[in-house]
Amino acid sequence: MDVVISKTYEELSKAAAQLVVDLLNHKPNAVLGFATGSSPVGLYKELIRLHKKEGLDFSKVTTFNLDEYVGLPADHPQSYRRFMNENLFNHINVPTQNTHVPSGTATNHKAFCEWYEKQIRDAGGIDLQVLGIGSDGHIAFNEPGSSLGSRTRMVTLTEQTLDDNARFFKKKSDVPRHAISMGVGTILEARQCLMVANGKNKAPALAAAIEGPITSMITASALQLHPAVTVFTDADAASQLKMREYYDWIRKQAQAGN
Ligand code: F6R
Repeated sequence: MDVVISKTYEELSKAAAQLVVDLLNHKPNAVLGFATGSSPVGLYKELIRLHKKEGLDFSKVTTFNLDEYVGLPADHPQSYRRFMNENLFNHINVPTQNTHVPSGTATNHKAFCEWYEKQIRDAGGIDLQVLGIGSDGHIAFNEPGSSLGSRTRMVTLTEQTLDDNARFFKKKSDVPRHAISMGVGTILEARQCLMVANGKNKAPALAAAIEGPITSMITASALQLHPAVTVFTDADAASQLKMREYYDWIRKQAQAGN
């Protein structure tokens, strides 16, 4: 796992965006996996800037989002489809028909989830998956105890996730209890993963994910099994990493071309 520690959120967002640029430069029709939540907002802002100012082209890109709340229609103010439209898709030139966010209103969840996985396969698989990390160590909505082989399915959110996400809703009881989420196994099939983490409240989960044992209790720890993961973090989220100096050293060596 490559760990890139930046001083500020802006810096980490720009560094993360560079990975997307590098991919699109050699594969303009890449399949990108996207996450919602606060962590990737800076990355999305930077991608929008690069599109508008430097002509970064998304016209051949296909996208798949990690998850969606069950029960929220696409136009609900807190739906993840709406989040993606407002924070990224409406501001770049990705064709709408190429963007996929799980449906929060599908009635046959099992059939829908199988169809979503097939869409990913038919697109050739995900080249680069953007991830955040929950304060309980989840990736997508794979809460503690999720199978590390899990596939896209309906999941039940933990109390901690409901608390964390209540900030986006009027009150906690408005946060849907269920979501459709890509599984850990689905995520591990992406050819490359990029995780963004910022803020002190992510420090324990990030340390457990990167340096702790691989366990279904911290589903982000499954990324240790993946051969191509880059974690972009600020100093606050990195504050509990034991090997921090080592990661900085590797980074400096890489920048010096050694
Ligand atoms: C959202 C998602 C979640 C978030 C995580 C962190 O699509 O998959 O795993 O990445 O809950 O959320 P923020 O970034 O809001 O702290």
